Amino acid sequence: MKVVVSVGGSVLAPTVQSARVEAYADVIEELVEEGHELGIVVGGGQTAREYIEAARELGANEIALDQLGVAVTRLNARLLIAALGEQATATPQTDHVRALEALRRGDIPVMGGTVPGHTTDAVATALAEYADADLLVYATSVPGVYDADPNEDATATKYDTISASELVSVVASIDMGAGSNAPVDLLATKLLERSGLKAVVVDGADPENVARAVAGDHDGTDVVPDDQ
Ligand code: UTP
Repeated sequence: MKVVVSVGGSVLAPTVQSARVEAYADVIEELVEEGHELGIVVGGGQTAREYIEAARELGANEIALDQLGVAVTRLNARLLIAALGEQATATPQTDHVRALEALRRGDIPVMGGTVPGHTTDAVATALAEYADADLLVYATSVPGVYDADPNEDATATKYDTISASELVSVVASIDMGAGSNAPVDLLATKLLERSGLKAVVVDGADPENVARAVAGDHDGTDVVPDDQ
């Protein structure tokens, strides 16, 4: 299978720990050994938020803050590249064309962010669409997609399966402010809706959940195209 994984910075590097990055690299390497083709997009997590917050206090505008966020995603991407070694691209791929070329060569393209205005969930969704991926896995800091914010509402229930257009509605209704519990960003859900891709949202705190998602045996949420 051709699989693109969006690894949240908050799950790959909540703090910078080599063991955690190594555990992610191990799962990715196992999937490649099983014959899957992998493309990885890495987020910025808490470190990006801290830099963005500090620069905002210093008066930087939103585009400059996004550029700072992109820089941190690429730092995290470099950590994963260090763990993957020669199987991965030598540097974070900064555009989708190069990432797809790397995938076709048989390398594992590792991306961070690209341009201001969105998050790495959107970058990963675009890569999955461009590469005609069989599956897109969002490895996030929440266990799946809920009908309400589980941190705010004790009756919130997790979807086992949700359609792409329902996901757009659920995410649109969640407050996107700082500390938002949205499982995926809104632009990513819109890209997903138009793409017809199959996607899975899993708790990325345990990297094995990515392998389980690829195997079709996971505890997260399946996001299915509207016509299925
Ligand atoms: P992330 O993708 O890490 O956002 O990008 P996130 O929602 O905080 O995800 P986690 O916590 O890693 O799961 C961090 C910031 O970098 C900028 C945005 O400001 C984003 O909030 N960014 C990222 C861009 O401007 N463009 C990109 O392509 C990616």
